Amino acid sequence: MNDPVKFLTTLSQALATMSLYGDDHPATTRVVDSALERLRELQEPEPKLQFTFLAGEVLFGSEVVQELEGWEWSSRLTTAGIERIEFLTQVETDVFGKFLSHIAVRLGIRPAATADLWQMGESAVRFGQVALNEGETSRAEPARVATLMYTLREERETVDWVHQEIQKGSRIPMVEADAVVRSLSIAMHAEQAMVLPLLQLKEFDQYTTTHSMNVSVLAMALGEYLELGGATVRALGVAGLLHDLGKTCIPREILVKPGKLTDSERVVVREHPIVGARMLLASTEPMELAAVVAYEHHVMLDGGGYPVLKDARGAQYASMLVHVCDVYDALRTNRPYREAWESERALAYIRDRSGVEFDPGVAQAFIGMMRRWDQRIAKMSA
Ligand SMILES: [Fe+2]
Ligand SMILES: [Fe+2]
Repeated sequence: MNDPVKFLTTLSQALATMSLYGDDHPATTRVVDSALERLRELQEPEPKLQFTFLAGEVLFGSEVVQELEGWEWSSRLTTAGIERIEFLTQVETDVFGKFLSHIAVRLGIRPAATADLWQMGESAVRFGQVALNEGETSRAEPARVATLMYTLREERETVDWVHQEIQKGSRIPMVEADAVVRSLSIAMHAEQAMVLPLLQLKEFDQYTTTHSMNVSVLAMALGEYLELGGATVRALGVAGLLHDLGKTCIPREILVKPGKLTDSERVVVREHPIVGARMLLASTEPMELAAVVAYEHHVMLDGGGYPVLKDARGAQYASMLVHVCDVYDALRTNRPYREAWESERALAYIRDRSGVEFDPGVAQAFIGMMRRWDQRIAKMSA
């Protein structure tokens, strides 16, 4: 990693940490100090530095920084009206702190109260647009959203590829599916407190991938909330990721159809739990739990839903856990036939359907989990 990359990466880590902790928190001071250290190293030969952020590109002076192509923070800074950062002279510790606070305000990860600390033009640091438009800051993300310093693009691409492999009739690439779950789990624990990295749907075609990853994250979070232990939590993550595997066999026209499904189309859709379970049982790895969850994730507590279980005991506990995560994520997402619901509305739905669709203990645990961590949701792009 060369020096501008080191500095900008540490800068973004500092901003990510500042979104979660106060200025005096040791996690903040540690990473802010290290960003300043990187900056000083970079300023050693020549204190005057200039960074330019364009859509998906970073320039150091007039050189494109190849390693940071598509860097998430570049678009975040641009969106917040920061297209350029210039360091004119050696930066003192307090100036650097104020500079970071101001950037954090711009990015919407700190309240605006600290904004007047910055004296433009008098300082060793300058930033903004050529024609600074104050209105731009309103486009920044809301203050209560947690941030992670990376995207889940690679993971999303891997899940897409897993689905394509299955559509081709290949075996389920379990190593890759496991790797995605591990990576989601790492993202959830990248900070001192839990973060729920949930993807936002951009195109309907992406629905099955985005939804599978979100259900995996929610199922692991619910498992952790219930203190089920590492191995079970990971197994729930895999089951969540693969619960809709059978959907890869549903024709695209049906999946993205905006209107009501015909009876024959509904039959095709309702087969996806059976198709998915069959695929998982046929895989070389022992995938019993994921197969059971795939089979039962649309089964309701009162016996409604599909498929109809022959066994009167009802769905397994793991299936009930994934079911509630499945419904929550589906309600929170824009679909061809309706707008996404707000989190509160989705939770109210789950509460209302407790004892009918959802096991009361499971519904209560899910609502409790979301109440504990709803401010720890990181809206991810991929
Ligand atoms: Fe499903
Ligand atoms: Fe689903």
